[in-house]
Amino acid sequence: MSDCLNVSKSMELWGRALELIPGGCQTASKRAPAYALGAYPVYVDRSAGCRVWDVDGNEYIDYVLGLGPITLGYCYPAVDDAIREQLARGIIWGLNSPLEIECAERMQEMVPCCEMVRFLKGGAEVTAAAARIARAYTGKEIILNSGYRGWADVWTAQHEPPSGAGVPECLRGLVKAFPRDDLDALRALLTKWKGKVAAVFVDEAGGSEAPREVVQGRRELCDEFGVLLCYDEIVTGFRMAPGGAQEYYGVTPDLACFAKGIANGMPLAAVCGKREVMQTATDLLISITYGGEALSLAAACACMKEYRSKPVHDTIRAQGQKLVDGFNAIAARHGVQFAASGPVMMCQYAFGYDDPGLNADCMTLLLQEMAKRGVLLRRGGLLFVTYSHDDEAVAATLAALDEVMALIRAAVDAGDVKTRLEVQNVVESFRRF
Ligand SMILES: Cc1ncc(COP(=O)(O)O)c(C=O)c1O
Repeated sequence: MSDCLNVSKSMELWGRALELIPGGCQTASKRAPAYALGAYPVYVDRSAGCRVWDVDGNEYIDYVLGLGPITLGYCYPAVDDAIREQLARGIIWGLNSPLEIECAERMQEMVPCCEMVRFLKGGAEVTAAAARIARAYTGKEIILNSGYRGWADVWTAQHEPPSGAGVPECLRGLVKAFPRDDLDALRALLTKWKGKVAAVFVDEAGGSEAPREVVQGRRELCDEFGVLLCYDEIVTGFRMAPGGAQEYYGVTPDLACFAKGIANGMPLAAVCGKREVMQTATDLLISITYGGEALSLAAACACMKEYRSKPVHDTIRAQGQKLVDGFNAIAARHGVQFAASGPVMMCQYAFGYDDPGLNADCMTLLLQEMAKRGVLLRRGGLLFVTYSHDDEAVAATLAALDEVMALIRAAVDAGDVKTRLEVQNVVESFRRF
């Protein structure tokens, strides 16, 4: 198969977008050059189940899935019916919606740390709110953090320009990074900043699964030093297990942030936690006009009903396991240096040649050739799976990968990976902000 994928309408739209929208789109990870520009779709027309159709009429099995929010599948009937039913009653008012209470009660039933909850709209909003609550509750300013928390100043203060430009200098140094699984490094920071740390923020997503003793050890360290433990469950929530990473690991944080998996794609996020800590939010200025917006709350309630009544998470785990095992077996069979790893509900994958440039080109070739065969992957993952990824979709994905790995092996052997790329500009690597 050598014919190029027809993405001409996508490319025409992308050209127009670059004139109108700084960066071309609203989400850093959706910028077209991060994929295989010119050989990979940019714009979607419609979707159903685990499939999307692009504006050029090509059909794909999707593993990018809005970067994580889709857990049940696109246009999932029980969720869309709940949204339609609520739409007929209204979206937002000056009065509050009883759905806020129903949604809070459902979260309380599912999420171990959730004694009280506030609903906001995005991941960055809830992690910023959690930082504010933690600082207000403890009266301390330093936060120890491992991982990406979103674009708010509190977190971007960790970044150098250009992505970190525009953040006041006075905020820099208040958030200190630590490697997720390194308890010694965490202890060293807690010791160095003793009496000044409000909270430890961490997420359990990523290329490797955190060892259980590390997750437990982190909780114990927070208790020993009297600091709050906050889980960013924006990726892991309602995906790793119905109650998120905290249920999966059996470790209860003091605060937790949810967003992606909460409403199957509707814009809802939640900061929740222990009553005593969350009560602090009563007096803080954490308030948005669209708090209590009812379509998203109705969607979230419908999702949580599905999570409790259907084998959603068993299916996501089983299909994710088949994909990870299949990816690794196929790569090994073709002698390609490639491995998929991490929690199977959201694995990552990488080429493992000594040459980083070759790895980046192989990744672009993988994206290009899988798209041509009707499968959308993301550069390096996270590879998301939904309840709608059936055996047929998984089998078709692995069959496509078998062909593509054969092609990549031949290209590596021939030393002509770069010349097989049909992209307009090759990104050497895509740096996540
Ligand atoms: C772990 C984690 N935290 C926070 C965020 C920020 O969420 P949002 O993009 O909704 O602001 C993301 C986004 O990808 C994330 O992966």
